[in-house]
Amino acid sequence: MSSVSQGVSSELSSLKGSDFLSSADLNTDQIFAIFELSKQLKYSRRRIDLGNRVLGLIFQKASTRTRVSFQVAMARLGGQTVDLNPQVTQLGRGEPLQDTARVLSRYCDAIAIRTYEQKELIDYSYWASIPIINALTDLEHPCQALADFMTILEKYGDLKGIKLTYIGDGNNVANSLMICGALLGVNVTISSPKEFEPDKAIVNKARSLIVNGAAINISNDPLSAAQGANVLYTDVWASMGQEKEQSFREKAFEDFSVNKEMLQLAEKNAIVLHCLPAHRGEEIAEEVMESDSSRVFDQAENRLHVQQALLAALLGGL
Ligand code: CP
Ligand code: NVA
Repeated sequence: MSSVSQGVSSELSSLKGSDFLSSADLNTDQIFAIFELSKQLKYSRRRIDLGNRVLGLIFQKASTRTRVSFQVAMARLGGQTVDLNPQVTQLGRGEPLQDTARVLSRYCDAIAIRTYEQKELIDYSYWASIPIINALTDLEHPCQALADFMTILEKYGDLKGIKLTYIGDGNNVANSLMICGALLGVNVTISSPKEFEPDKAIVNKARSLIVNGAAINISNDPLSAAQGANVLYTDVWASMGQEKEQSFREKAFEDFSVNKEMLQLAEKNAIVLHCLPAHRGEEIAEEVMESDSSRVFDQAENRLHVQQALLAALLGGL
């Protein structure tokens, strides 16, 4: 094993058996080690065999990227996944979480959960004896943020001094970007209409984690927030569970669309990111989504690589 691989393994070995519920569950060195391991896996410079480990998937909301990238990640690590959706388990008929978590801990080696309340993940973490992974809640999307910053690192080679401006709803994706960005020393600005600013507790939490003098800013003026940005990032205006608010939100966010005019305010070689799925013509213009500045498909691909690295660390495969 090379010295780089050894360094990565020793940095990540302490994560064996841990949960990943929030972007704040990793420290700066561990995140950079995940990026290094992700890169090694992406370019086939390293193979990891977890040997028949099983990841359970409890998805209470729809998913393409997260579900499939976890399934493929486990297959590439020599393991497998099992679908534990409430529609096909006794969870859907009211079996209590505390019983479900203890039973599943006897069969699976980790569980990735996509649900509404962060509290549900915390409860799973309490009752289960295996790692619990946040596959998106209303509060955070930490696996997404890992892929996002890996994509930015690939473009710029260094995260120091990078300015990321997120335009849109102060939602789960924005929250994890702030926390992970703070830990990585990235200047993150969230630009939302006043009533859709991110949760103040998360903003304060992110600010408490800042390294390298980075800043976490909140702005209600998308055009000035976009100025000089190295990365423009956006997400849907109505997240899963908010479908009834779609038309109200379309009105509230009409000035918060990442379009060509906004992209021109950013730094000359700025990249555009979106966690996907995207609503073209709403939070992102078709011409921006399809422009040379767009890295959304590299970003989506990196979900696979970072989750493979994360699983290897949490399941003790290093
Ligand atoms: N970005 C993301 O989490 O996509 P899915 O909802 O398809 O998993
Ligand atoms: N904020 C979006 C992200 C989807 C990946 C949602 O929660 O629906």
